[in-house]
Amino acid sequence: MKPPESLTEAEAAGELAHLAAEIARHDRAYHEHDAPEITDAEYDALRARNAAIEARFPALVREDSPSRRVGAAPASGFAKATHGVPMLSLDNVFDAAEFTGFIDRARRFLGIADDTPALVGEPKIDGLSVSLTYDSGRLVRAATRGDGSIGEDVTANVRTIAAIPAALPAPHPAQIEIRGEIFMTKADFLALNATQDAAGDKLFANPRNAAAGSLRQLDPAITATRPLSFFAYAMGQASERPAATHWGWLQRLHAWGFVVNPLSRQLPDAAAAADFQAEVAAARAALPYDIDGVVYKIDDLALQARLGFVGRAPRWAVAWKFPAEQATTVVDAIDIQVGRTGALTPLARLRPVNVGGVLVSRATLHNEDEIARLGVRVGDTVVVQRAGDVIPQVVAVVATAPRGPVAWRPAERCPVCDSLAIRPPGEVVRRCTGGLTCRAQVEERLIHFVSRGAFDIEGLGEKTIREFHAEGLVTSPADIFALPAHEDAIAQREGWGALSARNLSRAIAARRTIPLARFIYALGIRRIGEQNARLLARHYTSFANWRTQMEAAAMVGSEARSDLGNILGIGSAIAEELAAFFAEPHNRDAVDALAALLTIQDAAAPPQARGELAGKIVVFTGTLTTMSRPEAKALAESLGARVTDSVSKKTDLVVLGADAGSKARKAAELGVRTATEGQWREITGLGSDIRPEDTRS
Ligand code: IVH
Repeated sequence: MKPPESLTEAEAAGELAHLAAEIARHDRAYHEHDAPEITDAEYDALRARNAAIEARFPALVREDSPSRRVGAAPASGFAKATHGVPMLSLDNVFDAAEFTGFIDRARRFLGIADDTPALVGEPKIDGLSVSLTYDSGRLVRAATRGDGSIGEDVTANVRTIAAIPAALPAPHPAQIEIRGEIFMTKADFLALNATQDAAGDKLFANPRNAAAGSLRQLDPAITATRPLSFFAYAMGQASERPAATHWGWLQRLHAWGFVVNPLSRQLPDAAAAADFQAEVAAARAALPYDIDGVVYKIDDLALQARLGFVGRAPRWAVAWKFPAEQATTVVDAIDIQVGRTGALTPLARLRPVNVGGVLVSRATLHNEDEIARLGVRVGDTVVVQRAGDVIPQVVAVVATAPRGPVAWRPAERCPVCDSLAIRPPGEVVRRCTGGLTCRAQVEERLIHFVSRGAFDIEGLGEKTIREFHAEGLVTSPADIFALPAHEDAIAQREGWGALSARNLSRAIAARRTIPLARFIYALGIRRIGEQNARLLARHYTSFANWRTQMEAAAMVGSEARSDLGNILGIGSAIAEELAAFFAEPHNRDAVDALAALLTIQDAAAPPQARGELAGKIVVFTGTLTTMSRPEAKALAESLGARVTDSVSKKTDLVVLGADAGSKARKAAELGVRTATEGQWREITGLGSDIRPEDTRS
């Protein structure tokens, strides 16, 4: 091989063309087929050769050069990383009353009557959370949050972040997982965008996007050039607990060399938290990074463990968000938006107005009752508000336009397909009855299909789907998988090119293998959000099984139907919705057509609860003295039991607290097993000691 400096221009051009094709082929073999044909070192040598020739002949750098592939990574670019302890989100509160509600719920759960548990307050950084695993003190894995259960392995990229230690000084636990937020300061964000702009590259919308885009680079060398910062704030799995309080834990993190947010503070009670909230809100604008509220955590880690989680959020922490930002403007029109399940949502078209830094020209009016409640009409001046990522809403009318003879009236027909629009008695939402004959519903379903929690196809966002659908290129989800066959035509489109068309084909190919939960969610069945889709996937584990059971469940009174309704968290209303979906032959056909194109991955079965409570029906009665009723219920459920209110022949165990009455008698009558509180604690593995002063009789 000639050294680059002795190549002629023609030779160089030829070799660069060859390298571009060759490297792209190896990228596909590696990322799409998981079947690399060469070693990493050989691959690196190809890229190095490409870079050396380009350095010598800068004018010859090709549009499809491997060195220019610096955009966000294709969905398949990172290995999966499964979280040992799920990375959850936080519930939000917006005012002191809601915050008190959080404290009260925690107190009730713990059975503490008077004093509030001590708290720690930390600014809530608007970045992206990562999990860092240290094995014998060495950083061995870094993963993004992903869907909470499975994230992306970004270890190589995270190693380039100076604020994240590669090793922990002793003493440290043998194995420990540290969590925190990667973010970009406001100044670094502005500087990065200036550089991007000068180079003609894409600008980032905000510091959060800039941080995410910088971390998710396939080439860690690019991440290394980006100014990323990190605050540590939580613990995941650990071989031992290095502290008894969250505050103590933050001290440990600091001692190990992590940056802990310096504004974090220990707070004795809810009143101190309210003062802290005001203090941080006042400091917000001058902080060097974006925050959107304050996270409050109960300081005592033993209490945190007892409180545990409900759904996707801990009972021991809450995010107190800053108030929504508001502005006043005029309603120019009231439009109707058709959602993917046919719901008709009235939207106010507004004179564009700046609401806390974002230009707003539309806001939701929710439904027709809300329009009546607000008394809003076209021409009125209204208050619009924006909070976090949610879409802006109209909250009040401040000045009315001269009143015409008629108020706004709900449409009786769908504005898009003209089908009847019906509002069933007792419901607030009016719906288009057009189903798949309604273009708007079809389009919204397609958008949902490729959205983040569903197929999440990189390069195929809402705007592109709307275009492809308008042109008839995509009319059903299955059509999406035929897009790679039109790659050349797509490359010719305005705003596209060979590279972006190829990336789209790759991103689509990568999604032909999909976890069952995502597949179920992507179908866009009413009431089946990500959480319910996950519950279904875990319960039925395989697509084939789910598909068979859903069809069987279409029959009222069938075993499959009651099995479905009995899944913890599903219930009869959702079961009915699924049954109705699968009762429609065209829905079944669409699901099958789609499944035939895909490899749907089985879900892991829920961890089999073992021990004597698994699958048992438990009733609590009387007053428990060592734990509250909600805590007892949560504990029973965590051990695989179901808790019901009344005693019947089906009941397996009745736990008798103090002053147990009729339920205790009923249990005796029916011969159902009973347990005292002490016995209950033994069954659950907590140990039987009840402090004497707690035992009332
Ligand atoms: S604790 C189980 N502390 O907010 C609770 N989260 O809305 C784990 N965040 O995913 C989170 N600052 O990305 C925690 N001081 C802080 C935080 C924080 C920002 C983010 C984090 C989390 C999200 C939840």
